[in-house]
Amino acid sequence: MAKIIGGLTTSHIPAVGNAIANEMYDDPYWKPFFDGYPPVWEWLDKHKPDVAINIYNDHGLGFFLDKMPTFAIGAAHEYVNEDEGWGIPQLPPFPGDAKLSWHIIEGMVAREFDITSCQELPVDHGFTVPMQLFWRGAHANPDMPRAIPISANTVQHPIPTLKRALDFGKALRKSIESYPEDIKVVILGTGGLSHQLDGERAGFINREFDTYCMEKIIDDPEELTKITRMELVEKAGAQGTEFLMWMMMRGALGDNVKALHKNYHIPISNTGAGTMLLECEGVD
Ligand code: DHB
Ligand code: FE
Repeated sequence: MAKIIGGLTTSHIPAVGNAIANEMYDDPYWKPFFDGYPPVWEWLDKHKPDVAINIYNDHGLGFFLDKMPTFAIGAAHEYVNEDEGWGIPQLPPFPGDAKLSWHIIEGMVAREFDITSCQELPVDHGFTVPMQLFWRGAHANPDMPRAIPISANTVQHPIPTLKRALDFGKALRKSIESYPEDIKVVILGTGGLSHQLDGERAGFINREFDTYCMEKIIDDPEELTKITRMELVEKAGAQGTEFLMWMMMRGALGDNVKALHKNYHIPISNTGAGTMLLECEGVD
């Protein structure tokens, strides 16, 4: 049976794609951010997951305002990365796992999540930057797993509630665990933490709220479901709503997790950058 071994979170800022392309790991601006990843690499080296479920939010590449699915799941054999205009080098297509995708889609719809299935889905920085951060060298890294993108709408209101995001994750757990093949699965929750890219509050970052979310999500994610969507925008910034992806990831990990590693650094570009490694119960 498929086994979920843990969850990883990271911000997905496009500038990171350029910093990686230019190998700026020891640059004083970037070092405190990149220093958050080696403990995750060590854990991945040890456990070598077969599949990464990459929960991200599309920013207008795969979907646009004319058609905006609340929840979308990739069901392709590979996912193409296209130029979004950020100036980051385009990466080769990412191998998927269509068979597992369809199993998950079946399971989610049976559990009353009406998702959009995508047999073609170009993936943006929200998906690609985390793949590069967690698997150094990405495609050149023999350990880079097959990946399944799951995108939630954080772009056009109404966006999902934090409770719905957590519940999505719980249904996702059941939909993965019922897969008959013996594979190891890691869940990525990407985006956030606090940031606002435009309007009067452009540049807004809220360290206190980010710290609270990084603490609560470990043992008491239910408490975070009390935050309304308006409060989330107020406290995390308009784009800080990407924290929804972290809640989806957390729901898929089960009741008890061990936080093996945390890093928080501000600012990276315009964002409060948070990295976490949460291990599921019974994995060692
Ligand atoms: C930035 C952060 C994001 O989440 C994003 O999607 C684009 C840009 C930033 O901080 O620059
Ligand atoms: Fe983003």
